[in-house]
Amino acid sequence: LKDEKVKVTFNLYDGRKIEAEGKVGDTLLDVVVNNDLDIDGYGACEGTVTCSTCHVVFKQEDFDRLAEEAGDEERDMLDLAYGLTDTSRLGCQVTLTKELDGLEVKVPESVNDARS
Ligand code: FES
Repeated sequence: LKDEKVKVTFNLYDGRKIEAEGKVGDTLLDVVVNNDLDIDGYGACEGTVTCSTCHVVFKQEDFDRLAEEAGDEERDMLDLAYGLTDTSRLGCQVTLTKELDGLEVKVPESVNDARS
């Protein structure tokens, strides 16, 4: 099932670049967790949409080909995210599709854990 793999590069706010692989159907949070990626504080609420630490910023063209738009819950939480942009999403709510292979996202510094 090699063709179901999706490559993702995370460009961190501190200048590090982390390449990882996920599967179609994984969320970006799954990719971070399954690969044990060292991204400080990422995904603090484990995908229950009560933090904003999984905030990622897409390039416009990638943002436009995401399978689903942000739901209400996600949008409310994004409003609290530090450094919100027009192409921001919560990584735990973004599902990988084949079209997204080679995706690059920016991971802004997550100073706002909405739970604290
Ligand atoms: Fe908390 Fe995505 S992991 S909102």
